[in-house]
Amino acid sequence: PLVSMKEMLEKGKENGYAVGQFNLNNMEYAQAILQAAEEEKSPVILGVSEGAGKYMGGFKVVVALVKALMEEYETTVPVAIHLDHGSSFDKCALAIQAGFSSVMIDASSLPLDENIAITQKVVELAHLHGVSVEAELGRVGGQEDDLIVEDAEAAYAIPSECERLVKETNVDCFAPALGSVHGPYKGEPNLGFDRMEEVMNLTNIPLVLHGGTGIPTKDIKRAISLGSAKINVNTENQLSQAKKIREVLAEQPDQYDPRKYMGPGRDAIKETVIGKMREFGSSNQA
Ligand code: G3H
Ligand code: ZN
Repeated sequence: PLVSMKEMLEKGKENGYAVGQFNLNNMEYAQAILQAAEEEKSPVILGVSEGAGKYMGGFKVVVALVKALMEEYETTVPVAIHLDHGSSFDKCALAIQAGFSSVMIDASSLPLDENIAITQKVVELAHLHGVSVEAELGRVGGQEDDLIVEDAEAAYAIPSECERLVKETNVDCFAPALGSVHGPYKGEPNLGFDRMEEVMNLTNIPLVLHGGTGIPTKDIKRAISLGSAKINVNTENQLSQAKKIREVLAEQPDQYDPRKYMGPGRDAIKETVIGKMREFGSSNQA
């Protein structure tokens, strides 16, 4: 069923696992991720960035596609459709109107008071519709779609500010930027685990780890043990899909039927997602 993230994340936090957010880029992603979740009996979050939503034909198209696939696949596991890095109140409202079950308001580029004010407004609307909300403080580095944060602007969240934002907004989960990066890492990731522990103790709500691609398993496990109940992955699926499609086209240079290369690409995404669900411990938790 299509549900908000609230319950699945609280269960994850309580039982020591994380639910993966896997981003959609086109239909094959929706198919691969829903198939993986059902096979693994895992709850799942389908992340939709504003750019990917636009590419797929708009938020309403995304919701219709996901709902139709869930019906076709007879999906039994909990599924959330989540706006990833929502850039404004209006974009969050549009997603809610289109039928998203969850939204992220990313006002992390604004001063704390403004971030809190916008997040409050989003929470008020979202909760009226049973939709869950994620907020962010600090700044995740790297690039995702149009969201580009230079190294110098990337910032670790400050625990006391995190406590204030969570208490004053009543968000359902919270992403403190603590050194994770969108896209591939340059060298080893350097996550601020001490601060993560502090934020966990001060906020006591499920935490979100962005930039899940390229984080070693030991760091994933440590983040989960410190309250991270949602881990976002996008680039890793894109890399495995692109690699597979390159292989197929290199082996069959005359191939032009999209199903013959997009299909194997889809299977590669599915395998990657299954691996993540096992690593995050969400398999067999639905
Ligand atoms: O919001 C989405 C993620 O944080 C994805 O990060 O592309 O580095 O896996 P990633
Ligand atoms: Zn992110």
